Amino acid sequence: MKMVIFIILFVAYITYSAVVYTKGTKSNIQLPETEWAKVNRGKLLYQQYNCTSCHQLYGLGGYLGPELTTAYSDSLRGETYMRAFLKNGGSRMPNFHLADTDIDALVSFLKYVDQTAVTYKHK
Ligand code: HEC
Repeated sequence: MKMVIFIILFVAYITYSAVVYTKGTKSNIQLPETEWAKVNRGKLLYQQYNCTSCHQLYGLGGYLGPELTTAYSDSLRGETYMRAFLKNGGSRMPNFHLADTDIDALVSFLKYVDQTAVTYKHK
């Protein structure tokens, strides 16, 4: 009996792994090619400036700054508010002296993250 359960679990594990590793995680969000370029550039900048040391995305990251997953669609924050912090820094948020194109890219990235956060939004 133990052997049967072991075999069932083992086969389930192998099947699950095969699916997980071959299906891929390509996003099903549709964006024009030029927008993807900005999103990817923004993601890179987010990593380079280590924004994650202070901010969380999907609940992961540092706690000095606010969670940014749904900042874009948040009625109290949104794009203009976010841009203001990226441009000038805040009382605790450093001013990185970002170029306007870098700010655009970061906003595109955070907008994209917001679009992926379907189950995260409280509505
Ligand atoms: C040293 C910690 C720190 C780092 C690093 C940092 N931030 Fe912040 N950020 C903050 C804090 C704290 C705030 C809240 C405003 C304040 O107190 O200055 C903030 C506010 C913001 C806001 C405004 C949104 C809101 O909900 O208040 C955005 C957008 C933002 N940060 C994006 C970024 C991005 C993008 C990066 C990387 C380029 C970054 N931050 C790096 C600490 C940080």
